[in-house]
Amino acid sequence: MRAFIAFVLALAVFAAVQVQGAQYNVTWADDGSPIDLSVNCSDVVQFSWLPRHELEQSRGYGCGKPTIRNFGEGVNIVAPLVFANPGTYTFACNIEDHCTVGKQLAKVHVGACSTPKNTINWAYRRDNASYAALQLTCGETLTFSWTSGRHDVAEVEKPDCTSPTIAYYGNGTRFDNGTYFPPASTGSVSFTYTKAGRHHYKCDVPSHCSVGRMLLTVDVTCPTKSASPPPRRRSPPPRKWVHWG
Ligand SMILES: *[C@@H]1O[C@H](CO)[C@@H](O)[C@H](O)[C@H]1NC(C)=O
Ligand SMILES: *[C@@H]1O[C@H](CO)[C@@H](O)[C@H](O)[C@H]1NC(C)=O
Ligand SMILES: *[C@@H]1O[C@H](CO)[C@@H](O)[C@H](O)[C@H]1NC(C)=O
Ligand SMILES: *[C@@H]1O[C@H](CO)[C@@H](O)[C@H](O)[C@H]1NC(C)=O
Ligand SMILES: *[C@@H]1O[C@H](CO)[C@@H](O)[C@H](O)[C@H]1NC(C)=O
Repeated sequence: MRAFIAFVLALAVFAAVQVQGAQYNVTWADDGSPIDLSVNCSDVVQFSWLPRHELEQSRGYGCGKPTIRNFGEGVNIVAPLVFANPGTYTFACNIEDHCTVGKQLAKVHVGACSTPKNTINWAYRRDNASYAALQLTCGETLTFSWTSGRHDVAEVEKPDCTSPTIAYYGNGTRFDNGTYFPPASTGSVSFTYTKAGRHHYKCDVPSHCSVGRMLLTVDVTCPTKSASPPPRRRSPPPRKWVHWG
């Protein structure tokens, strides 16, 4: 076996205010052993690897599934992740035969969360952990909420802290420029999704994205309607009765 997979549970017990979960260290390898892990929202799952791999979060479990976000590609990478919602998150390395032959796949089942569903506790992360992408469906609402620190939400084109901004949101308000600076330390911004697509959000306060990892991808899918009727015309043409014979 070229590598081994270690799930090590660090019992980090802090008597401090912040709820600190466990850390799971996972060696990400194409050694034929898919990863299947159960955690809670406050936990950190740290993937790390030495030889060349990539950590692609996928829509669905398996090789070659659509990629939602790539959390790192190359050699000698440490990629800690956190999860904001309960559910199953799936990952693969699709380099060469790493997935197909090496079974380099992961399923992370996320159980209890202290935050309400679809609510991001939008905070500067001192543990370097990136938010795993959220998979939502049409009609769902996502809320970024913060109760300490000065934050905002900027929708950006790509899951990259230097990517061009599409729009800035303060405390529930859209701003047309990047000069907004949150005036106080509480706020929230919500988005309700009505169509399928992918969105990337960051906090625009300097260093909060690049160092504090305040960057989140949301993958929205809509249920496909089977045999949807064609769009209705404004006024249907007059009906004609056809007599046979
Ligand atoms: C997990 O890896 C980090 C280094 O990235 C290390 O500091 C920590 O001790 C490891 N935790 C366990 C439980 O092995
Ligand atoms: C998740 O948290 C619940 C309590 O909130 C606990 O019972 C359960 O064991 C935890 N699961 C893991 C995998 O840590
Ligand atoms: C976060 O990343 C920085 C830069 O790579 C590193 O110096 C620091 O030790 C990391 N912090 C934690 C908690 O892993
Ligand atoms: C930025 O946009 C906000 C709202 O759209 C506006 O109130 C503010 O005056 C603008 N600031 C500048 C410097 O243009
Ligand atoms: C944001 O809005 C909430 C609710 O309206 C309010 O309580 C809070 O003070 C506001 N924060 C800022 C920074 O304006």
